[in-house]
Parts: sequence; C-alpha cells; structure tokens
Amino acid sequence: MRIILTKDYQDMSRKAANIISAQVILKPDSVLGLATGSTPVGIYRQLAQWYEKGDLDFSKVTTVNLDEYRGLSPEDSQSYHYYMEKNFFSKVNLRADRHFLPDGNNEDAAAECARYEALIGSLGGIDLQLLGLGHNGHIGFNEPAKDFVGSVHLVDLAERTIEANKRFFSSAEAVPRQAYTMGVRTILCAKKILLAVSGEDKADALFRTLNGPISPKVPGSVLQLHPDVVVVADAAAAGRLSRESGKDG
Ligand code: GLP
Repeated sequence: MRIILTKDYQDMSRKAANIISAQVILKPDSVLGLATGSTPVGIYRQLAQWYEKGDLDFSKVTTVNLDEYRGLSPEDSQSYHYYMEKNFFSKVNLRADRHFLPDGNNEDAAAECARYEALIGSLGGIDLQLLGLGHNGHIGFNEPAKDFVGSVHLVDLAERTIEANKRFFSSAEAVPRQAYTMGVRTILCAKKILLAVSGEDKADALFRTLNGPISPKVPGSVLQLHPDVVVVADAAAAGRLSRESGKDG
C-alpha cells in the first residue's frame, strides 16, 4: 500500500486526478470504478479541466459506480446518477452507453444485485477503483457489520451515514434508508484501488482503515489485503496517522 500525503483538499484532488489520468493515458479503454460523495468532486473537476484542455480522452473508457440509493430515480437530484451526470459524465466525452450505476428504481433487489454483479463481470473487471471513506470506515455503502458481504447487495444504511448524508437532502427523514452497493469482493477484485480521503473528520476512520485489525466493523480495513492500493490523503485526514507514527519514531 502506498500513502501519498498532500497539503490540502485541492492538492489531494489534483494528485488523485493525476493517477486516474495516468490510467486512462496508459490504457484508453480502461474500466474505471467511480465513487460519489463530497471527496471526489474536486477530482472530477480536475479531470474535466484536463479533458477540456485536450489532455485526456474518455471516448473508450467505461465506468461503473460503487453504489446508488434504493428508491431514487436517475432524475432525482439526490441520486448518484444525477451526481455523476452533473459532476462528471456531462463534462467529458464518455459515451452515454458506457457508464453504469446500480438501478435504484429496481424494486426487485435480488435481480438488481445479480444484474449489476454480472455487468461488472461482463466488462472484464475494474482496472482502477476510486473510493472515498465514510466516517465509520465504510467503502461504497459497505457499512460496519458482523460479516463482510462479498458481492453487490442491498444494504440498510447506518444511522451515522444517514446523519452524514442528510446535508444533501431536505432533512434526515428524506435520506433513503437503503442502497445498492458493490460488495467487498467486487471492490477487491479491482486491479488497482485509489482511496481518496480529506478532512480532519476522517482522520480516525483512515487510521483504523490502514492500521487497525481487518474487520467488518471497519469495512475499509479489507483494503489491507489488496496488493495495489494507493491512498491519497490530505494533511487533515492523515493527522492521526502522522501523530501515531511520530510516537513510534
Ligand atoms: C457516501 C458514499 C461513499 C463515500 C462516503 C464518503 O455515503 N456512499 O461512497 O465514499 O459516503 O462521502 P464523503 O466523501 O461525502 O465524505
């Protein structure tokens, strides 16, 4: 695992975007696994700027997103479909039929999970998976639990996640209680993983993800098992990592 420490959010966004950009330059038909949340907004902005300048071409790229709220249609302004369209898809030359998310509108959870897992398999797997980190250590919507769930599944959102995500909704009550998410095996099957983390409020989650026991109570800790993970963290998010390593030295 490589940890790249950056000054601040902007520096984190640029360095993470550089890694994605290198992937697309080296393999123009890459399958990129994408994430939502506040963290990647700056990364998408940077990638869009490089596309505008003519430095990047997404015409052969395919994307698959980690997760989607259950019960929200793509047109809903709180859906991850909407977020992706607004922050990335509409800004670059990705083909409209080459970006995929779980279908939050599919009431048949078993069918939706099987469909999305099969879809990812049919693409030949993910070349580079971008991840953010929840305050409770979640990745995608893999919430702390008794056991890991391997494949795409329907999850009940943790109270802490509902609290954290209510800022995007009119109230906590308006936040959907369930979501479809890639499972930890789906994520670990990606050839490379890029974990982007920013802010002091993530310092504890990042420390436990990288240094704690591998446990479904901190879902991100499974990343310790992956052979090719790059963590790009700003100074605030890396605060506890830096403090604790200082103690050892
Ligand atoms: C959300 C998403 C995750 C994201 C995480 C952190 O609930 N499902 O994929 O990484 O929480 O979000 P943020 O970057 O807004 O802190």
